[in-house]
Amino acid sequence: MEIKFLLNGKPVTASIEADAVLLDVVREKGCYSVKRGCETANCGLCTVLVDQTPVLSCSTLAARVNGKQVMTLEGMQEEAKAFGTFLANEGAEQCGFCSPGFIMNVLAMEKELVKPTEEEIKEYLAGNLCRCTGYMGQLRAIHKYLNREEK
Ligand code: FES
Ligand code: FES
Repeated sequence: MEIKFLLNGKPVTASIEADAVLLDVVREKGCYSVKRGCETANCGLCTVLVDQTPVLSCSTLAARVNGKQVMTLEGMQEEAKAFGTFLANEGAEQCGFCSPGFIMNVLAMEKELVKPTEEEIKEYLAGNLCRCTGYMGQLRAIHKYLNREEK
């Protein structure tokens, strides 16, 4: 079957099998920021935005994005750069493998939640696993990012 969707603002067409998952399709289109981790909807590494909402692309059928808007980190460089600086300043980026999925979720959270509490932040990001950092640096980075002056 053929699907058409907007990938980082550009119209794309893909010829897919009915059971193809979005993770494979966006990587085939060159979006290598979308990482393959657990493939069982547990780690958050494969997070992309579909119509502004974070979804796990490893467990989303590609056919479901037909006619929709898909964003990956490749299409959000400016926003990602701003938060990435806070991550780096807190020493919260070590191997960096989890960063693309994590950043996508933080950017989505920023749009969705107004002045989130610590608990709300933890709940929103509970699906993002990081094998390196212990999460404290990430939390410090999020707090500083959300409370930055220039928004
Ligand atoms: S690869 Fe999708 S959640 Fe782990
Ligand atoms: S920084 Fe290595 S997995 Fe998160």
